[in-house]
Amino acid sequence: MASQIRFLMCSPDRYDVDYVINPWMEGNIHKSSPERAKEQWQKLHHILKEKAIVDLVEPQGGWPDMVFTANAGLVLGDNVVLSRFFHKERQGEEPHFKRWFESQGYTVHELPKDLPFEGAGDALLDREGCCLWAGYGFRSELDSHPYLAKWLDIEVLSLRLMDDRFYHLDTCFCPLTDGYLLYYPPAFDAYSNRLIEMRIPAEKRIAVEEADAVKFACNAVNIDKVVVLNQASDGLKQRLAEAGFTAIETPLTEFLKAGGAAKCLTLRVTEPVRTEVCAIVSVESRIIRLEGHLLDSGLINRALDKIVEAGGSFQVLKFDLGEQRQSTSSAEIKVTAPSHEVMEAILSQLIDLGALDLPQEERDAKLEPVTSAGVAPDDFYVTTIYPTEVRVNGEWMRVQNQRMDGAIAVSADGKVAQCKLLRDLEISDRVVVDILGIRTVRKPESREQRNAQEFSFMSAGVSSERRVELIVEQVAWELRQIRDRGGKVVVTAGPVVIHTGGGEHLSQLIREGYVQALLGGNAIAVHDMEQALMGTSLGVDMQRGVAVRGGHRHHLKVINAIRRCGSIAQAVEKGVIKSGVMYECVKHQVPFCLAGSIRDDGPLPDTQMDLIKAQEEYARLLEGAEMILMLSSMLHSIGVGNMTPAGVKMVCVDINPAVVTKLSDRGSIESLGVVTDVGLFLSLLIQQLDKLTSPYRALIGT
Ligand code: ARG
Repeated sequence: MASQIRFLMCSPDRYDVDYVINPWMEGNIHKSSPERAKEQWQKLHHILKEKAIVDLVEPQGGWPDMVFTANAGLVLGDNVVLSRFFHKERQGEEPHFKRWFESQGYTVHELPKDLPFEGAGDALLDREGCCLWAGYGFRSELDSHPYLAKWLDIEVLSLRLMDDRFYHLDTCFCPLTDGYLLYYPPAFDAYSNRLIEMRIPAEKRIAVEEADAVKFACNAVNIDKVVVLNQASDGLKQRLAEAGFTAIETPLTEFLKAGGAAKCLTLRVTEPVRTEVCAIVSVESRIIRLEGHLLDSGLINRALDKIVEAGGSFQVLKFDLGEQRQSTSSAEIKVTAPSHEVMEAILSQLIDLGALDLPQEERDAKLEPVTSAGVAPDDFYVTTIYPTEVRVNGEWMRVQNQRMDGAIAVSADGKVAQCKLLRDLEISDRVVVDILGIRTVRKPESREQRNAQEFSFMSAGVSSERRVELIVEQVAWELRQIRDRGGKVVVTAGPVVIHTGGGEHLSQLIREGYVQALLGGNAIAVHDMEQALMGTSLGVDMQRGVAVRGGHRHHLKVINAIRRCGSIAQAVEKGVIKSGVMYECVKHQVPFCLAGSIRDDGPLPDTQMDLIKAQEEYARLLEGAEMILMLSSMLHSIGVGNMTPAGVKMVCVDINPAVVTKLSDRGSIESLGVVTDVGLFLSLLIQQLDKLTSPYRALIGT
């Protein structure tokens, strides 16, 4: 026996598969053979005894999983963090392991009740002793990691497990001598994989295939250059050999039925302490507060899901349920994240949901100066469509020009905060970074609104004709109201409006005062005027629906004619254009902006080919809009969506569900998506508006 390495094992006298607490146990109750289990365990014991000292803990009746001593606790030097099992099926093992550790003179640390941690099954020391890799997601709670760092005085790197077959870290991750790592990457989330890749150089990472992973190849016992495991493919053995390791296979099939193998059956109790390392843990916690119709609107579910999806963990500290239908509820939630980076990602999403970071109430937003014009400091807070407030010099102030995907710039005197696009940042600005001192103001969504949203939003689905009709009724009603109170409606439209015969209806909307600005590209104007001049749209006869001979040249002739006039307005004035969407805009002084693109022919003299100017012009025309009708233009609709704060009603009509869904991702309750033919939509809309205009007809229902 060369080294003083010691392991703790527990004989399988009382081992059996008695219950199901992991996927491997399913269908295996009482299916493992006691004789074979004993024989396999003894072989493993024998191999390890050749190379190390093996201590034994007495098995206990009623606790069949006690053979898996990896889960007894986590040892480093003289300290042990005792396990707190997640499942009650194993909680009875705790006092037995505790007794053993105490009898050996270890200092035993116990975690608070209800804070699960499953020992060396979920926490593995880097073999050089520099850091501790700790898993979470199934059995151990992320909140246990700071305790490990504190008690063992070591850096803890948190890894999130994603695949329930690999529910303990040691089932898919095995640090080896000389800085090597044997692991199964798909068991982890992207953040964890990046962390692993940052810490362990590529040439030291031995990633196993699924076929090896499911044979528990990563559940290996490593002693110097030997790796003891259940089974390894030839490929894996070769990879190990290239790294200087000898694989010793010893079948442990009877234990696989309980979800464990070589490593699970052992606990290394001599883990050397490195004196130069010290506690570092990147795990962070924050307490946030949420208020609103938390249950009715599903807000609490969305918030908790977001935390977990982003790789965090939570604990609900308080929940006050509003008693009356109209009263709101409030919750205090402790959010834990493996790193500041993940915490920021989680909190910015929770801020979008209206959450307030509690201790932050006392804290100002963090500001950093712009040192290079048009460039934000790293880590800048990315704005959303929701009304936002920032705390500067102890005062909350509303951010102006709210839009998404901007930065919040605070003026030098600290008096004005506004959303700015990166390109507009100036050296005198200070930009909000991090997630402190920021809150978004969300109107509480009521049960009714939520239902309305679900009803009217045809998210990703094709709306049935009747549903389209219902939406049209709603939209017509609102258009009418906005017009009557002198409000503002903006239309963004693509050329499909013209191809599908919607041109005349859109023209009517403009003529009747329902539209206060039109946004689009070169094409909508070209095809609209092609129809006005030649009766075709992109060469297709709009009456007969057939392509006209030589029709593909029509649009260029139109562009040329308008260029000769100097502008669309002049073409209307000179009587060249006598009808259509652009004609009505000019006639009724409805401002429009045509934003150019790389594929534009001509372009028309009115088309703004300087995109920054076009974006500015769009933003100007959108100011004060109450409703935006987005008619079959993915490019312009999404562009407009990005510039528009929450609270503005958006109705997106497109035959392509993907466009509609994309806009729904804004998650704002005001968005309404309609998957249908835009020409049909507009014709129904006009019919509805006509009905509203002739109340008598509406009354008798014709
Ligand atoms: N049946 C046991 C459980 O599910 C197996 C434990 C395996 N141990 C391990 N360190 N992976 O808890």
